[in-house]
Amino acid sequence: MKLARAININDLRKMAKARLPRMVFDYIDGGADDEVTLKHSVSRFDDYQMTWRSLLDVSHIDTSTTIMGQDTTLPFFISPTASTRLFHPAKGELAMAGAAEKAGVIYACSTLASHTLEDIAKATSGPKWVQIYVWRDKELVRNFLARAKEAGFTGCILTVDLPVPGNRERDPRNQFSLPPRPSLSLARQTITKPRWAWDLVSGGKIEVANFKELARVQDQGGLVGFVNSQFSRGVTWSDVEWMREFWGPGFAIKGISRGEDVKRAIDVGADTVWVSNHGGRQLDTSVPVIDLLPEIVEAVGGRADIIADGGVRRGSHVAKLLMRGATGVALGRASLYGLGAGGEAGVLRALTIMEDELRRTMALLGATKISELDPNLMRAPLQ
Ligand code: GLV
Repeated sequence: MKLARAININDLRKMAKARLPRMVFDYIDGGADDEVTLKHSVSRFDDYQMTWRSLLDVSHIDTSTTIMGQDTTLPFFISPTASTRLFHPAKGELAMAGAAEKAGVIYACSTLASHTLEDIAKATSGPKWVQIYVWRDKELVRNFLARAKEAGFTGCILTVDLPVPGNRERDPRNQFSLPPRPSLSLARQTITKPRWAWDLVSGGKIEVANFKELARVQDQGGLVGFVNSQFSRGVTWSDVEWMREFWGPGFAIKGISRGEDVKRAIDVGADTVWVSNHGGRQLDTSVPVIDLLPEIVEAVGGRADIIADGGVRRGSHVAKLLMRGATGVALGRASLYGLGAGGEAGVLRALTIMEDELRRTMALLGATKISELDPNLMRAPLQ
């Protein structure tokens, strides 16, 4: 397979679909309920139309910026995703982190990663952030954060939009389980994907690598059992304060969709507010992030950075989120499709496509640096 033949992110999606068992591809590709938010998050970008400034010198485009205190050459980065070895059993998170370093972008690692923080840190000297949830067992989170600091992770992201998992109907339909368990359905779906199956068998069991010492994890129904045993529905804002205090600066709260919650996030000490609908995987028919940004920007009032994600498949989508007031943009599926299509080289291809598209969009707009992505170059959305 020739990754160079992938002209855009959708091509990588098709390649990933061809390489992965259906249940694995659908786990990345799917959303909650009727997948309305999933679809609208992508299509809504088209309703924002742009104009451009003519005859400006655009021979040099500078895409560098700073997100949550981290200088970076690009305004987008890799979002945390659970159990990444599923999509590339040989290297998983290591492939993601390696590609991020080569592309000069930040890599964010999920709590539910399938490689340890220490192994990921060994695989990359690039900038790294770590993502966490509020769990019942404080000590577990505290130890995890201490290990992340020790391993050189400089930013912490607290996800708050998962009090319960969203209703992702493709998963039970495909008899998907995390980690994959031997079954007739898995055998049927992998028979035509020998490369993936071979990598899975030779790479060893997919585990919640950072919590392996909890041997009971596997006994309680794998990752899902672990999540069910640790996630608490009773968590509130007061549970966030100690984490922010423990971590220090470089603390983002991810999964915010209302101005009033922005204020709470800043009150508990977050220096970054992450506007997200979890890629349409949680509350269906929630508002596409690009529509939410004005309310969020107003509530932030310049007191924090703003990260946005959801439906970003084009460099122009990145530009539009920045024009609406985001400081940085996170890529979830775009990088996962690359990973599924071709491991580290596939992720790098995804990041390169996004960079080329962003640079071209900026040149066409007449914007030579990120601060010149002027909101006046974009019209109010079509209804
Ligand atoms: C995990 O956060 C997921 O969306 O699957």
